[in-house]
Amino acid sequence: MASIRYSSSSLLAKCSAASAAPAAGRCIANTSRVRNFATETSPPKKLKPLTQEQKDFLSSALRVNQAGELAATLIYKGQTPPIVRQHPHLRPLMKHMYDQEAGHFDTFNALIHKHRVRPTALYPVWSVLATGLGWSTALMGREAAMACTEAVETEIGNHYNEQIRTLIEMVTQWKQEGYEVSDEISELTKTLRRIRDEELEHLDHAVEHDAKKAEPHWLLTGVIRAGCKGAIWVSERV
Ligand SMILES: [Fe+2]
Ligand SMILES: [Fe+2]
Repeated sequence: MASIRYSSSSLLAKCSAASAAPAAGRCIANTSRVRNFATETSPPKKLKPLTQEQKDFLSSALRVNQAGELAATLIYKGQTPPIVRQHPHLRPLMKHMYDQEAGHFDTFNALIHKHRVRPTALYPVWSVLATGLGWSTALMGREAAMACTEAVETEIGNHYNEQIRTLIEMVTQWKQEGYEVSDEISELTKTLRRIRDEELEHLDHAVEHDAKKAEPHWLLTGVIRAGCKGAIWVSERV
């Protein structure tokens, strides 16, 4: 199992991530000001080292999330041309959902690089399957494309909820033992909550746009949900 590296302070990492050229000077200045403030006024946080089990959980969470968000961008990329050709009024909605997925994908790409987690070995397989799923459901029509989104986002929403629950349990345990919570874990929990909410927003959009009218809805969503569960299970491990 790949290991994960979480440093106790993410201040410099955050700065370098945000230091696109125009903001670089400002970032350095802010960093030194914050560092002075931190050393003068607050003692270092008392953090509990991660157990191997917690490291493995975080590695597999980042790996599967990156794979899932790659798949999501490819599904929408495959769906958008046929859907927009038939239903031009859906262009803004498809673009909105794609843009959010691209943002999620960027987030997990940055996190797996930062923490040196290897991507899933099945990256190329998921790429082909996700593109095929997006394209084929769009050819079946608007309702089928929306049913695909409904099914995928239902599974992904549940999946993010499970990860958030595990993180909350970790944090609760640390607090009970008198430890503090690292900025990175707090930030990760916040990020997962935001992304989970955006996935559930996609689910609502799909239902509002007649996902339930797909024929046969039960078969389409059942097959896609089973496929998502299988892909999540494999990507957490391989
Ligand atoms: Fe997403
Ligand atoms: Fe989504």
